[in-house]
Amino acid sequence: VTVEVSEVRCHVNGEPVTQTVPVRRLLSDFLRHDLRLTGTHVGCEHGVCGACTVHVDGVAMRSCLLLAVQVDGAQVTTIEGLAGANDPLHPLQEAFKAFHGLQCGFCTPGFVMAILSVLEDGRRPDAPLSESEAREIAGGNLCRCTGYQGIVAAVQQAHESLREHRKSPQGGRGDP
Ligand code: FES
Ligand code: FES
Repeated sequence: VTVEVSEVRCHVNGEPVTQTVPVRRLLSDFLRHDLRLTGTHVGCEHGVCGACTVHVDGVAMRSCLLLAVQVDGAQVTTIEGLAGANDPLHPLQEAFKAFHGLQCGFCTPGFVMAILSVLEDGRRPDAPLSESEAREIAGGNLCRCTGYQGIVAAVQQAHESLREHRKSPQGGRGDP
């Protein structure tokens, strides 16, 4: 059996990557198995749970629904790209920690990446998020442990932290 392959050139967490992959290799498998970035989790493998969410050119995407070859030329960010091992956590990660937005943690990277793409859009810059707005932002992902309350609180807290950061003199997009 001949396996058709193709070269992928992209940036992952700011680092250039060039790799030859089977054309049918999923982006989630490329990240986890080829690049060893196992923070991106795979649950349902068909676009339902959101555990595999990463950013492709700044947009949240389900990596189990993309082929690796589809990110050729793109900037990919995974959960590992938010804070290095010796860096402070991103404010959204801090909020998950502070408000018990995780238990087993399986869903957490996907929630963080999905929520972050919305918060980085500058949603509701002048006022706190309501609980229902926070629920809507987190509503595309599934968690089987937490009951969601801590996740919703974390979204509200992170929104506040990012608003404060934007108001500060050196404030920017959400990457303090
Ligand atoms: S593993 Fe991709 S959406 Fe569930
Ligand atoms: S914390 Fe276990 S699935 Fe969400």
